[in-house]
Amino acid sequence: MALFRYSLFSCFAFSLLAFSLVQSPQVHGKETESRHVVSVSSLLPGSVCSSPRDSNPSKLKVVHRHSPCSPLTSGQKPDYAELLNQDQARVNWLHRQISTASNQNSTRTSLAANIPARSGGSIGTGNYVVNVSLGTPKKVFTVIFDTGSDLTWIQCLPCRTNNSCYPQQQRLFDPSQSSTYSNISCTSTKCSQLDLHKCSASRCRYEVLYSDQSQSEGFFGSDTLTLTPSDVLPNFLFGCGDQSSGLFGKAAGLLGLGRQSVSLVSQSKSKYGDVFSYCLPSTSSSPGYLKLGGGAPSNVHFTPMRKFHSQPSFYFLDLVAIKVGGEQLPIAQTVFSNDRTLLDSGTVITRLPPSAYTALRSRFQKQMAKKKYKRAPPLSILDTCYDFTGYNIVSVPTVALLFGSRVTLNVDFTGILYVSSVSQACLAFAGNDNASDPGIIGNVQQKRFDVVYDIANSRIGFGANGCG
Ligand SMILES: *[C@@H]1O[C@H](CO)[C@@H](O)[C@H](O)[C@H]1NC(C)=O
Ligand SMILES: *[C@@H]1O[C@H](CO)[C@@H](O)[C@H](O)[C@H]1NC(C)=O
Ligand SMILES: *[C@@H]1O[C@H](CO)[C@@H](O)[C@H](O)[C@H]1NC(C)=O
Ligand SMILES: *[C@@H]1O[C@H](CO)[C@@H](O)[C@H](O)[C@H]1NC(C)=O
Ligand SMILES: *[C@@H]1O[C@H](CO)[C@@H](O)[C@H](O)[C@H]1NC(C)=O
Repeated sequence: MALFRYSLFSCFAFSLLAFSLVQSPQVHGKETESRHVVSVSSLLPGSVCSSPRDSNPSKLKVVHRHSPCSPLTSGQKPDYAELLNQDQARVNWLHRQISTASNQNSTRTSLAANIPARSGGSIGTGNYVVNVSLGTPKKVFTVIFDTGSDLTWIQCLPCRTNNSCYPQQQRLFDPSQSSTYSNISCTSTKCSQLDLHKCSASRCRYEVLYSDQSQSEGFFGSDTLTLTPSDVLPNFLFGCGDQSSGLFGKAAGLLGLGRQSVSLVSQSKSKYGDVFSYCLPSTSSSPGYLKLGGGAPSNVHFTPMRKFHSQPSFYFLDLVAIKVGGEQLPIAQTVFSNDRTLLDSGTVITRLPPSAYTALRSRFQKQMAKKKYKRAPPLSILDTCYDFTGYNIVSVPTVALLFGSRVTLNVDFTGILYVSSVSQACLAFAGNDNASDPGIIGNVQQKRFDVVYDIANSRIGFGANGCG
């Protein structure tokens, strides 16, 4: 009898333990597993757009700019090294912004002195795009979405000169054909919300300068923005670009999801409560989503969002530790102590403080060496590459990023390796050059997670298996 009670108790205790483990945010995904065993073909970019099932009509469909589902692809393979070089240009720009602001101990006003470089990051080409509709009757445009900048702009007619609009996939937006378009005057308070503005014939003109010589300028206006049949935003303020150039590919413009008042999120705050979420798709064929408003899935776990007045556009969080193969790396807490790891949809590869990257790389290499994978040459900023020629299946150590409030992001296997070809699959992380620069969580590592930006409650959520 005593024995029976004992085993009943231990059984009860065990299930309690198991229950608490399941409840813990540490355990979503594959935390207990130390390796991903995947087919090599699942790592490679797809070449056909598998006709996706009808996604939720209240969500915008997100596809990678180079995915076969993107209306912008030319069919040719992107130049991966070039893409990663552009990614470094964005990161350099982000670091410059952040270090300038911290060094000056500045408020937003004093930062205004530096404005020319501050109004937008490098766009790069490693970005995700969505379709939005503008005007009445509405016209569809494929735009880049970017959490690192605020102003939404779309190329418009008339262009300033014949060559001042870059070629895009869809026809240019013609505000004179939209019954709901309005000009914004120079004296309007709406005009002064812009980081950079000027006047032309008493109309307000915007200007966005990017770090890599990309730029966009044009008239500031308003019109009806239709995201989905149920998400219609009348009088949405946007830039009607008539002189833009740079790395925008064939996108018609950009959707700004930063924190400042002119961003899509801020403009629609009263309707959606300052919350948005997205899922970036993992294979190039399946779609992700972008959604305004709350209603996060129940498996989303939240970590505190850090905001800095000197960095009014950006979203930060606390990265506290990293695990490889289920084991925490020996990285001193002080390495991450600046509580300023940037979460960015526009940066491709996650950047870590130099010593954190070195620890990650050496553990990863050790784990890969166990399987005797052949090393391959570096690819731009990626220095740990493998040649999987001849393998059907590969076994790759898991990587997990641990954030404040004990939230763990078990990086999807497609976020661990950046694969240019079977013979060159690289660890998709890089180190910063300067230990005082903040880390950046890039879009490769966010793939297949619901990422919830709950600005109202100052928190960022991650939920596994987000793209459905
Ligand atoms: C920034 O300036 C304020 C007021 O001048 C001062 O109290 C604060 O300690 C400074 N912070 C840093 C990090 O230097
Ligand atoms: C966006 O619209 C274009 C038509 O302009 C269409 O070909 C494409 O499939 C749409 N893409 C998405 C992601 O909805
Ligand atoms: C723009 O192109 C049109 C047609 O090609 C041409 O007639 C016109 O002169 C050009 N204008 C300028 C300013 O180059
Ligand atoms: C906006 O300004 C331009 C230039 O002055 C003018 O041609 C156009 O009619 C104006 N649009 C509206 C809707 O007022
Ligand atoms: C690292 O960054 C700090 C602060 O921004 C700067 O003072 C220092 O010169 C940088 N060091 C190098 C080697 O670039």
